[in-house]
Amino acid sequence: MAASIAEHGEDAFRKLFKIYKRRNPPPDFSEVIHFSKPCKDKVFTCELNSTPISEEDVSKAGLRPVKDWRAFGLHGYPGFIFISNPFLPGSQQYWVKQCLKIYPQKPNVCNLDMHMSSVETENIWGKSRDVIQRKGCGKREPKTLLEKLRWVTLGYHYDWNSKTYSPDHYTPFPKELHSLSRILNYYRSDSSLGIHVDESELDHTRPLLSFSFGQTAVFLLGGTKREDRPTAMFMNSGDIMVMSGPSRLLYHAVPCIIAAQAGNMLPPCLGQRLETEAQGDDNIQNMSDEDWDVCYWYLQTSRVNVTVRQVLASGQTFPSSQASHLSTDSCEKSEEGTQKNKKRKSESGCERDT
Ligand code: OGA
Ligand code: MN
Repeated sequence: MAASIAEHGEDAFRKLFKIYKRRNPPPDFSEVIHFSKPCKDKVFTCELNSTPISEEDVSKAGLRPVKDWRAFGLHGYPGFIFISNPFLPGSQQYWVKQCLKIYPQKPNVCNLDMHMSSVETENIWGKSRDVIQRKGCGKREPKTLLEKLRWVTLGYHYDWNSKTYSPDHYTPFPKELHSLSRILNYYRSDSSLGIHVDESELDHTRPLLSFSFGQTAVFLLGGTKREDRPTAMFMNSGDIMVMSGPSRLLYHAVPCIIAAQAGNMLPPCLGQRLETEAQGDDNIQNMSDEDWDVCYWYLQTSRVNVTVRQVLASGQTFPSSQASHLSTDSCEKSEEGTQKNKKRKSESGCERDT
């Protein structure tokens, strides 16, 4: 990756970040990689080893058989894998509902907790649903809590000030999300969010996983140096990214979410319902029409990203002093599990909205 410092002290990453973040005039997206029509000089197809995990477990997590996944690598980025929407029809809806209805619930931690009381942030889903229903009656209503939600952390919660995790700030990591991630973790071996590196975790040997749902975003993948020129790619609903091995500590950012065209508000893969009736022990369950109405309303203008990180290696413990893990240059975050809901206007620069 060629490092190039642009004129006026602005490096290549920041320059591209600003270009893609711009609204008026809209940026030229012709250089952004589209994995559904990959260009041969930048992208190559990846063979994934599907043997260590049973097809049954894969399907229980709502995913197609691994042999059917379309996985790609990027020249110059060893360890980076892009998997084009491997979700079974209907299962993305389930993950969106978990992210909007279940994961923001206490005792998990979200950005609203920073400036609202626990009474106010209780039942984010129910309170938002009531407002949306009143909006349907033509009333002017204030923003819902769902619209103000920017991030939720699960598992080890991240301290945004000290940029560390700690053993005593932990709530259980959801079992179903673990099984989704476990499947993906296996492939690590070859395998507007500001410019950052996710380096606060104490174990960097496990891959970073990112799941995208809802509106399309542009992702910028840079190098090991802050100023390295990044590669831009689209992340569509259902797409999964794996940053493993040498790619685990690369700079990256999400400069923009691309607004849906009017009349075509949701990607077709998100509108699909489950093809088969869920079994009792399946992770993916059907949802009520009422629940889907809230998700549908939300997704028209939003993207939900689930990023899963391994905080500790097995057998590893937190050091008594975490000072050595403070970072200076990078703006980064969470644990075995962070989930963030990014509304279109949410992120700027290296800031995290609270
Ligand atoms: C992050 C991150 C990428 C995304 O949360 O650390 O890089 O796709 N997210 O939202
Ligand atoms: Mn990140």
